[in-house]
Amino acid sequence: MFETLGPAPVDPILGITEAYNQDPNPDKINLSVGVYKDANGHTPIFRSVKKAESRVLAEADSKSYLGMDGDADYQKAVQVLLFGTNHEIVSAQRAATAQTPGGTGALRVAGDFIHQQFPQATVWLSDPTWANHAKVFASAEVPVKTYSYFDAEANGLDFEALLEALQQIPDGDVVLLHGCCHNPTGVDPTPEQWEQISAVVGQKGVLPLVDFAYQGLGDGLSEDGRGLMALCQPGCELLVASSFSKNFGLYQERIGALTVVAGSQDAARTAMGHVKMSIRTNYSNPPAHGSSIVKTILNDPDLRADWDAEVKEMRDRINSMRKLFVDGLERKGVRRDFSFVARQKGMFSYSGLTPEQVDALREKHSVYVVKNGGRINVAGMTEQNMDRLCEAIADVLK
Ligand code: LMR
Repeated sequence: MFETLGPAPVDPILGITEAYNQDPNPDKINLSVGVYKDANGHTPIFRSVKKAESRVLAEADSKSYLGMDGDADYQKAVQVLLFGTNHEIVSAQRAATAQTPGGTGALRVAGDFIHQQFPQATVWLSDPTWANHAKVFASAEVPVKTYSYFDAEANGLDFEALLEALQQIPDGDVVLLHGCCHNPTGVDPTPEQWEQISAVVGQKGVLPLVDFAYQGLGDGLSEDGRGLMALCQPGCELLVASSFSKNFGLYQERIGALTVVAGSQDAARTAMGHVKMSIRTNYSNPPAHGSSIVKTILNDPDLRADWDAEVKEMRDRINSMRKLFVDGLERKGVRRDFSFVARQKGMFSYSGLTPEQVDALREKHSVYVVKNGGRINVAGMTEQNMDRLCEAIADVLK
């Protein structure tokens, strides 16, 4: 049977790292997948994670299954991180959280839940969005459509077009919103714009699905939650897909969560019952190591303070790379205005390089970036690779 198979498509993000790994050039630069590198070009284990991990290992006494929705203390810690301790959503217990393998796992479980319980619903994605979104929902047999988001001329948000598009979404559909640090553009609504988005979505009876994978990498842990907070109105319904790959550096542990916010505690519990059925048919129950680390850090004031500081270090380094990159391009004589890079938030810069320029970067310079919008992972830039990177970009722009 396998002889008849054609080749599988190359993943537009993870496939680039596969190509990078084959490249013998010792000076190659990988700015494709969203993985943070420190000043030495290394993806470190957080100090808070190391400490939590040794505590977890010392205290662990069983490897029995977790429940389908994971660890209860972790679920609670995730809700407090998302909404704050005193939020009405938490005190009224109208949120229910399932631990999932990463943010992708949360999105896939959400997709299955939507397909099974709301088969008429379409999921609306921003144009552009993370390259995997449409595929995850297609795998769950959920139809997708797109709404306007990005103004390529201005390298900013096309807010008027966004609001108008949101108004056209039929009741009962789902709108996927990036909680912060929009992937791939790095362009987020302002807090005031979030209020307006929330008003439109609330009026329409459209279900927001917030993809929240970069909390803390934009303006700060609580600042990056302003969009989510704007959506959290009395009686609101929401889905939130969390990922802790980036903000805890736990990429390979696959740790995330799907949170259902319903109008009442009963409705949240019932919805979670269906979410658990989706989990059961996907992977039965989640792996435990990542959640043990995250809950240990979030529930211990000292570790939590360490973690906050580490997220800030990461954010500050990324922002300093943004400035260095803009200056570096200018110094190489690039005439095009790249100052927008310093205004974008999170890991990525939607550089506007064409597919041909992206190919030339790779073929001539062994610099690997994502084709869609010329997305560059700023968090992979270092002082060491900056000059070579800017030289390469200046060359392909000639
Ligand atoms: C990215 O966009 O690079 C990350 O979210 C990693 C991934 O899985 O694509």
